[in-house]
Amino acid sequence: MTGRLTGKVAFVAGAGSAAEGVSNGMACAVQYAREGARIFAVDRDEAALQVTIDALGDEGLGGAAHIADMTQEAEVEGAVARCVNELGGVDVLHNNIGTATPGGPVETSEEDWDRVIAINLTTAFLACKYALPTMIKQGSGAIINISSVASLIYGGQAYLNYAGSKAALDQMTQAVALENAAHGVRCNAILPGLLATPFAFSAPSVVAATAKTIDPNETIESDLVPLGHFGSPWDIADAAVFLASDDAGFITGTSLVVDGGMVNTITATHPAARASA
Ligand SMILES: NC(=O)c1ccc[n+]([C@@H]2O[C@H](COP(=O)([O-])OP(=O)(O)OC[C@H]3O[C@@H](n4cnc5c(N)ncnc54)[C@H](O)[C@@H]3O)[C@@H](O)[C@H]2O)c1
Repeated sequence: MTGRLTGKVAFVAGAGSAAEGVSNGMACAVQYAREGARIFAVDRDEAALQVTIDALGDEGLGGAAHIADMTQEAEVEGAVARCVNELGGVDVLHNNIGTATPGGPVETSEEDWDRVIAINLTTAFLACKYALPTMIKQGSGAIINISSVASLIYGGQAYLNYAGSKAALDQMTQAVALENAAHGVRCNAILPGLLATPFAFSAPSVVAATAKTIDPNETIESDLVPLGHFGSPWDIADAAVFLASDDAGFITGTSLVVDGGMVNTITATHPAARASA
């Protein structure tokens, strides 16, 4: 590790991890800490958050744990205030929280629609709302929103609330980036493809495509991915560290696809693309 985030405070929303695997949230929190950041790890699930705190502890890395439901404004305000009071600011805001239910408009209940929009979009909006004033005062900050390639492509099975909320998150990323560039605050999105995480393997479509259950120690080969295999949460963490660090000092408002080439292949093999070739 190269200490690229030494002296920085990273607020990681949705930092928890299910016990049976490494989540994106956990990998990003650990990788930020390995690069020198002090971690303010937030999750609504105490047991999941403890898995990440323990993983940090195993490497001798510290981290403050905070329980909050990030869909609730007062709880987000309280979490950011505690981070600023105890750690002195917010240099990196990492919005990881996301969920999905299968179905198109007909199958999706209004309740599931509202819940997924709140979890995928409102959490990031509220975190920005309360972290931005501190970043603007500091004259610096990096916001990283975890989106998905589902914001760009239809993956073969309808996840309407997921696709709609992630596409909105991409555009919110650009708006926040442009509105705050003059204050020295950067905002970028990461769009993961297929990853070997408990989150992915909770989706019936992923399990059906691989006929496997998740094993964090196993490389999952896939014909869908030009690089030949599923990505890992550590691939997302490496991208997040880059975007959070000064190495990405001239990058804002971008959507960084981390998918082993899958999106481009799907575009290239679409009948319309073949017809025009
Ligand atoms: N794994 C993949 O294949 C994949 C692919 C594309 C995008 N993503 C994106 O990655 C992100 C999730 O990755 P992960 O592996 O960390 O998932 P995860 O489900 O393991 O972790 C998400 C964490 O967020 C917490 N959380 C949920 N709602 C919350 C709320 N209201 N307030 C506070 N905490 C809350 C959960 O308790 C959980 O610990 C999502 O945004 C997802 O869309 C994942």
